[in-house]
Amino acid sequence: MNEKNKKEILSRGAFATSIGAVIATLGSAIGLGNIWKFPFIAGENGGAAFLIVYIASTILVGLPVMISEIALGRKARANAITTMQKLNPKKGQPWWLIGALGALAAFTIMAFYTEVAGWVYAYIFKSLNTSGLSTNPQVTEKAFTDLITSPWQSLIWQWVVLGIVSVIIIKGVSKGIERVTKFMIPSLLVMVVIIAIRSLTLDPVATSKGLSFLFRPDFSKLGWDVVLIAMGLAFFKLSVGMGTMITYGSYWQNDQNIPYRTATVMLSDLAVSLLAGLAIFPAVFAFGFEPASGASLMFITIPAVFASMPFGQIFMVLFFILASFAATGAMISLIEVPVAYINENFNISRLKATIATNLTLALIGSLAALSNSVLADFKLFDLTMFDLFDYVSSNLMLPIGGLFIAIFVGWIWGKKNIEAALNNAGTLNNHVIVNVFTFIVRFITPVLIIIILLGGLGVF
Ligand code: PHE
Repeated sequence: MNEKNKKEILSRGAFATSIGAVIATLGSAIGLGNIWKFPFIAGENGGAAFLIVYIASTILVGLPVMISEIALGRKARANAITTMQKLNPKKGQPWWLIGALGALAAFTIMAFYTEVAGWVYAYIFKSLNTSGLSTNPQVTEKAFTDLITSPWQSLIWQWVVLGIVSVIIIKGVSKGIERVTKFMIPSLLVMVVIIAIRSLTLDPVATSKGLSFLFRPDFSKLGWDVVLIAMGLAFFKLSVGMGTMITYGSYWQNDQNIPYRTATVMLSDLAVSLLAGLAIFPAVFAFGFEPASGASLMFITIPAVFASMPFGQIFMVLFFILASFAATGAMISLIEVPVAYINENFNISRLKATIATNLTLALIGSLAALSNSVLADFKLFDLTMFDLFDYVSSNLMLPIGGLFIAIFVGWIWGKKNIEAALNNAGTLNNHVIVNVFTFIVRFITPVLIIIILLGGLGVF
């Protein structure tokens, strides 16, 4: 890497080691989406058939958008909005709106994500006094319900989460994020493998039921609505469609192989989700839980697995600590979008930008935090605020953002720029990959997103 380039990156706060940016990107992708959301959404939508659509969306839609975002961010070395302004050759066209929509999506996701993260934090303490640690579904369900129906507990845990995220963000990019993520991801992986092994060995009949639930497809369950949810989950899990990866791409170094590294991130993310599925579904059948029990699934099932293994309590504490790290890594990347934007565009310090962002979130987030208690009957489109934030962000905002990112890269930025970005200005010999990517990002990704969005919204 040349000197000018190095200086340019460092002045914006780069990651300390060359692999650091990739690790942090993985830290953004792997989060509650893998261990909390993926299992319960797969459970609600029929398991295996859903899984197939989800994997196809990840490869044909999620990965191309991720490559696009990282390439754009690395080229422009700026936040999502400035990136679109800098790289847009047609100055009159408002492509920066992608960044603005992304900042909005970040708020919408954070509003409910901080609440779920709050549950995870709370469970660290619940496991210390073993409440909820039981193989009896009624006990674990009650422990969870007690938590989420208490307005004060919900709010306070959300504030704790916002406070911790603020501190990490204020400390800056490389020190905070990279250090935590580097040991968090491998440890989480080991932990999920341990839980999966225990879950798979609980009871042979339950194991085969769990496995066939996850891997034997029943396509009668697939409608457009489910396909949209699968695609939305692919966006959410890879943190794409809203500029997070543009912002993180701006910290990637110029000699990193984007298609190869992003594919590694995608495969690791998929592996963690599948392992989470293997950890949860055999146990669901072994203890008599309901596979479609929704947002509570992880919180009621995993403690039951721990209750049936030696040193279960210690494992449970460790698991929730790791899960809280995973959630925090993802939240940092979410908040980074509006904070980087406010910081760079309005010349407002990181400190002030972070405080303003988090205070706003405490306000909007309370609507989600109180969705299981005092605001349980406050619904729009028949959804509580929690569910509404979740649905709108994953199934509308991210796909729409991703659609425009793909169109921008494929049709406006164009082949020449794509080629230079993906072959690192001629130093990589990856002609075929560049051509395949260009074809997909032009013709496949946008078309699929449009069809699935229209189908999911009931147009045909
Ligand atoms: N991918 C993160 C997860 O799975 C969530 C996320 C979405 C983070 C969008 C950043 C942007 O938990």
